[in-house]
Amino acid sequence: MTQQHTTTPSSVWNKVEGLGFGGDYNPEQWPVSVRLEDLELMREAGVNFLSVGIFSWALLEPSEGTYDFGWLDEVMDNLADIGVKVALATATAAPPAWLVRKHPEILPVTADGTVLGPGSRRHYTPSSSAYRRYAAGITRVLAERYKDHPALALWHVDNELGCHISEFHGEEDAAAFRVWLERRYGSIDALNASWGTAFWSQSYGSFAEIMPPSAAPSTLNPGQQLDFQRFSSWALTDYYHCLVAILREVTPEIPCTTNLMASSATKSMDYFAWAKDLDVIANDHYLVAADPERHIELAFSADLTRGIAGGHPWILMEHSTSAVNWQPRNQPKMPGEMQRNSLAHVARGADAVMFFQWRQSFAGSEKFHSAMVPHGGRDTRVWREVVELGAALKRLEPVRGSRVRSRAAIVFDYEAWWAAEIDSKPSIDVKYLDLLRAFHRALFLRGISVDLVHPSDSLEGYDLVLVCTLYAVSDRNAATIAGAAAAGATVLVSYFSGVVDMQDHVRLGGYPGAFRDLLGVRVEEFHPLLAGSQLKLSDGTVSSVWSEHVHLAGAEAVQTFTEYPLEGVPSLTRRAVGSGAAWYLATFPDRDGIESILDTLLDESGVAPVADADPGVELVRRTSDDGHSFLFAINHTRSAAAVAATGTDLLTGAPFSGSVAAGAVAVVAEG
Ligand code: GAL
Repeated sequence: MTQQHTTTPSSVWNKVEGLGFGGDYNPEQWPVSVRLEDLELMREAGVNFLSVGIFSWALLEPSEGTYDFGWLDEVMDNLADIGVKVALATATAAPPAWLVRKHPEILPVTADGTVLGPGSRRHYTPSSSAYRRYAAGITRVLAERYKDHPALALWHVDNELGCHISEFHGEEDAAAFRVWLERRYGSIDALNASWGTAFWSQSYGSFAEIMPPSAAPSTLNPGQQLDFQRFSSWALTDYYHCLVAILREVTPEIPCTTNLMASSATKSMDYFAWAKDLDVIANDHYLVAADPERHIELAFSADLTRGIAGGHPWILMEHSTSAVNWQPRNQPKMPGEMQRNSLAHVARGADAVMFFQWRQSFAGSEKFHSAMVPHGGRDTRVWREVVELGAALKRLEPVRGSRVRSRAAIVFDYEAWWAAEIDSKPSIDVKYLDLLRAFHRALFLRGISVDLVHPSDSLEGYDLVLVCTLYAVSDRNAATIAGAAAAGATVLVSYFSGVVDMQDHVRLGGYPGAFRDLLGVRVEEFHPLLAGSQLKLSDGTVSSVWSEHVHLAGAEAVQTFTEYPLEGVPSLTRRAVGSGAAWYLATFPDRDGIESILDTLLDESGVAPVADADPGVELVRRTSDDGHSFLFAINHTRSAAAVAATGTDLLTGAPFSGSVAAGAVAVVAEG
């Protein structure tokens, strides 16, 4: 569906000066007097970038074909006057009531057949032909109207595609699924072979017989489930393309994006596949207040976003200044936490810091969600911190365009995540992210940067590569991983990796099929642990979730299980490969075990922290192509912490003292 265009969009970074700062701006909720005050406050805070009109369709087109652009014209002109650039939304994230009334078939249908109604938002299915027609209509009208507007810097297509609901089971969705399958397989025989339909009499005679997975007496065909996940992720981008095709035609030089939700909580969209269609990666991230290690989850999400962005600078399109309104208990951010969060995203590659939303609503579902301008106005901690952050970002302008350069990589694949967690596996306790995040956490605590890379990406230049529960892998990608070890990297592969190919067919001859030769092991049988059980390992550490009957076939045992019936069976192995090594981890160690294995791997690979610092300080370095380096030191503790770095702290303009105050951040321009 992607169209060919002769003009390529220019980079958003040519339009937004310095680091972007701002948020979602919903002026349609406010009278003119407030909108004028907004301009003053935006100047005071140093705002230079806003997303406008995300949920404004019903006001822009109050009835079919009748438009009211008065307020948006005024807002765009006023923002241009004060030098603010706009990511203008296509306004399609909430269909107007008249459209639902005329075309109720646009409404989403869930797997159990429930039709989700209007009165909220995102009440459409991306495969609805009527919805696509009307969404394309308003998109074209907006593009034509604002194509030459000086404030327009970026198209914000729809909003958080796949948020709230990401799989759709209506008639048009089923039809689109069938077309997608036919294109993927070419023949029904190929589909039957791929889905293994000889099992349970599931063979299909034609594509017309196929339905999306729905409520069924027992477990559904895993091939059908996996393909429906793939299709559902693709269907959202196909809808995105419909709108982008119009934007490219009318405004070929304006870049397009949509805000992703990359985090440990978003599983349904393959953002690595989406990335090629976005002119710049934009991500939304919200902390879970109840998580005492929420700053580590933030680091994971930001590293994942940088991976999706291929290492290029990205936009933090939304986060919150303080509390959200949608968690069970919405604790505000602690003093200084918003700055630590914002600058942690910058440290990990964001060149724009934006919030949901500019001004806190007085009505509607999100009135208790924090914003840059709180209900209490200017005399509030949040507003003071917003102004401080705006000033800090101004001082950090030299950082713009620089990149995080990591020597460690964690392989990350949404398809492997989906496949690993489809039902009927050896253990429900094997969750794709658990081991992966345990290693990420241990790296975070050591101040070691790590890139999250797709298995089809090159691993050149990485000295340490971690492959965690990569259940499904293609031959080609397994070969890339093996190649990294041969080229000198230390590669660790964990249990439940390489077990199946991308059709979810078991690789026969012993697990972990795709990595057996690389690792020099052969696993005969899985021994998942019962809930709550633990195992003692030969080095005194403890593990849970998983064990298995490993045979050495070229590797050496480094650690073994100690308990019946696997006593003496290897739980950790190493095989020298070329100038590198391939390690196999056959269980899920506890935190001490993870740390001790990681330390061994770090020693072997020579991968070291970016600087020395007291515990509790997050450390990341960004370096520019012309050799400038910036060390971000974020003190998550409530006492001052030492950091071994010399240079100028960009945030204060003074030489860095070697200490970061409690809860504070230093960004040291080194040298
Ligand atoms: C996002 C959404 C915003 C707002 C925000 C609240 O998912 O894009 O519109 O609802 O959450 O946290």
